[in-house]
Amino acid sequence: MAMSDPVTQIVILGASGDLTARKLVPAVFASWSEGFFAGRVQLVGVARRPWGDPEFRTQIRPAMPKGADPAAWERFLGIVSYVQTHLDTPEDYAALRSSLDTLASAPADRVFYLAIKPDLFLPSVLGLQKVGLLDQSGGRFARVVVEKPFGTDLPSAKVLNRALLAVLDENQLYRIDHYLGKETVQNLLVFRFRNAFFEPLWNQKYVENVQITVAETVGMEGGRGGFYDGTGAIRDVLQNHLLQLVALVAMEPPGSLSAKAIRDEKVKVLQALRPMSDLPDPLHHIVRGQFEGYRQEPGVAPTSETETYIASRAYIDNWRWGGVPFLLRTGKHLPKRFTSITVQFRMPPTTLFGGWQECHLRPNRITLRIQPNDGIDLDFEVKEPGQGLTIRPAKLGFDYADYFHKPAPEAYQRLLQDVVLGDQALFIRSDEVEESWRFADSLRLAMEGTPVHVYARDSWGPRQANDLFGECEGRWVTG
Ligand code: BG6
Repeated sequence: MAMSDPVTQIVILGASGDLTARKLVPAVFASWSEGFFAGRVQLVGVARRPWGDPEFRTQIRPAMPKGADPAAWERFLGIVSYVQTHLDTPEDYAALRSSLDTLASAPADRVFYLAIKPDLFLPSVLGLQKVGLLDQSGGRFARVVVEKPFGTDLPSAKVLNRALLAVLDENQLYRIDHYLGKETVQNLLVFRFRNAFFEPLWNQKYVENVQITVAETVGMEGGRGGFYDGTGAIRDVLQNHLLQLVALVAMEPPGSLSAKAIRDEKVKVLQALRPMSDLPDPLHHIVRGQFEGYRQEPGVAPTSETETYIASRAYIDNWRWGGVPFLLRTGKHLPKRFTSITVQFRMPPTTLFGGWQECHLRPNRITLRIQPNDGIDLDFEVKEPGQGLTIRPAKLGFDYADYFHKPAPEAYQRLLQDVVLGDQALFIRSDEVEESWRFADSLRLAMEGTPVHVYARDSWGPRQANDLFGECEGRWVTG
């Protein structure tokens, strides 16, 4: 970029919140340090607090990433400003516009990052539109990034989509799911479609089941109880992060790497997810749990039935996956934090080496470790050296950290850069979000009929979840 290039303004609405200091400011800083913006960037915090630039800089000063050069961090703070705005007051947007114009001093490219409560999404976008801040004439761009949750169910997501798309083009709207910014998630496409080994086996003929786990050790820390109690694990993690993993692991090869081609294929998977109501016995396909002591957490109703754990057996009704169970699981206060996808292959067709006494042991699996310790494992069996024929499990492992010797960039950094570059491949399109809600709603509705199993903190959740596997189908992985 040259000095004559327009400035890019990253405008964070809701800048006094936790996400700004934790993720957004470090992401802008990392991009700025790497020269991504070639110096032509301004970071503008917008919130209702009566601050000026110095107060906002003081507020975000502790967000300096570990290992960053303090002198560079101080220089970076020089590009940071603050504009006080009441986002629910339409009259305030004219002042916001003139502050942004003054700061830029020439037409600017703008990213508006909505780090605000969902009920402010629409008023903010309408406010920005009214004063021309979403206008893209003159070759400048104006893009809006929306955090989750995008709606709370299918009807509300549809209403929100319709209202936002009345004032924005789909290509201006970036619905973020930070899982798509994780390196291993992106690598799923490379792993599947750049290698010849795996794809021929990636279907119902060879795959017995697929399990996907998002396990967390955290609970309701940071005063999250009030928010979480109205949300639960299905809405908080399954509808978005987990279903995105389902879509990527199950999609057909896209015709190109364009955002359209990738999202077209992902949405087909989501459309093919069978709603729970179409199962003959939905209650046997869902286990909900709540960690012990959840109801005593601040902000949580004493009789709450909100799930902090959900496990489900789901099906994708298409040619590739017909009949293959997808075992999905997420929970809080589990013993280990990890996210992984395990593809379990069927048994070889003959029992040449003797019977399989332990029918739950399956020799062939591919595990995609999303986090932590990103990597890929292949499980298979080998002969133990020596007389006789003793067969032992073996593993081939690939670890990103060992191989590349450099840390993966933070998800938010990658995603923010994609917004600036105008690449929507790693963002959720309106039809994707609606299809995800369609399935998640069916799960939630079916879940209402299931008991709330209380599980001990630091346990693997209700033991009933083990029964989601058929007798000889394997078991949940433990990271
Ligand atoms: C967020 C959820 O979207 O994702 C949190 O609201 C959850 O409840 C978090 O803890 C998990 O993200 P990560 O990147 O830590 O796996």
